[in-house]
Amino acid sequence: MGGPGGSFAEPDDLLVLGGEPGQGLAAEVGELRDCLLRCGQPFPELAVLERAEGPGPTAWRPVMPDDPRWLERCYDDESLVTQIAGTIVPRDVRGEIMRSPTSSRTLPSLVVRMLEDLQVDDGHKVQEIGTGYSTGLLCAARLGEDLVTSKEVDQDVAASAAVALGACGYFPELVVGDGLVGHPESAPYDRTIATCAVRDLPYAWVEQTKPGGLILATLCGWMYASELARLTVGKDGVAPGRFLGGRVAFMLARPHLPPDLGTLPDLDDADEQPTEIGADVLDDWSTRFVAQLAAPRAQRVSLELGGRTEHVLLGVDAGAWAALAQDDRGAWTVRQGGPARLRDDVAEHIA
Ligand SMILES: C[S@@+](CC[C@H](N)C(=O)[O-])C[C@H]1O[C@@H](n2cnc3c(N)ncnc32)[C@H](O)[C@@H]1O
Repeated sequence: MGGPGGSFAEPDDLLVLGGEPGQGLAAEVGELRDCLLRCGQPFPELAVLERAEGPGPTAWRPVMPDDPRWLERCYDDESLVTQIAGTIVPRDVRGEIMRSPTSSRTLPSLVVRMLEDLQVDDGHKVQEIGTGYSTGLLCAARLGEDLVTSKEVDQDVAASAAVALGACGYFPELVVGDGLVGHPESAPYDRTIATCAVRDLPYAWVEQTKPGGLILATLCGWMYASELARLTVGKDGVAPGRFLGGRVAFMLARPHLPPDLGTLPDLDDADEQPTEIGADVLDDWSTRFVAQLAAPRAQRVSLELGGRTEHVLLGVDAGAWAALAQDDRGAWTVRQGGPARLRDDVAEHIA
């Protein structure tokens, strides 16, 4: 996950953030950042999963509250996983697990950066998508819980977040459901912020944010290059904006996750052609971001086949594919199949 790294100070230094609502976040941001950098988060998660170092695919191992390292880990400026594969929580894991995270405690310094980017001020009403640590920070950031609505798609995550927030004395409006439709019942909002990424911005967020209000969300495609965007809602229902930089990454909103890969195509079922553009151009974040616009439903997979690495772009639903590989001399070749020419579409956009 994006944002600067580094560790926070000893947990003993914990300060409880907060204060009276309505004292003005804008004026407090500097103080808030200082407090966070010195003291960490306003509340620790009940238990977390940390990345297990080692070669191979990413593995996660639990750090439970009875672990002597637990409190310190909770206060590290690191993204800590709280749920895996949609149902597995830290207490379910013995040893290590290698499935994808589905909920996490966002990197604390990233949440602070996003609160700055959101330009929240006295009396602003905020809609948040994805509930947890960031919700606590919104409440702590002098907004006051009455002005915060947070919607979380996962019932279990929502329940444990509600417990953790309540234990800290925060009782914002918490809603369980798909945040992509927002929460019109409490609209309009001055600000909408998403702590999961989206492939395209739901128009419901524009409709539910006041004219002049801001929307802050990370846009991400299926090649996993993403960027934080800030949009200003206009009176005409249009919300222009710009990317803010920093290669901010969040897990995708669940309805925006890519489909399973299914059965792979027969990569020998097409002629091999030389290509000037190799698969390595997609190692670059910005190039990949643009490539996603050219082939928005393509996923990227690498396979070891016949003694060489095949870099495959795969549009599962339409059945389009492009496989790039290097020959013995290091020159790139491409084979393409299905109804679209994925490599050609990408090459045209990134040229
Ligand atoms: C990176 S976590 C952030 C959690 C929390 N905001 C925090 O900062 O600790 C992303 C969260 O978004 C939630 N999420 C994913 N898709 C969602 C959706 N469509 N609506 C609401 N929440 C969603 C996930 O379940 C997960 O808890």
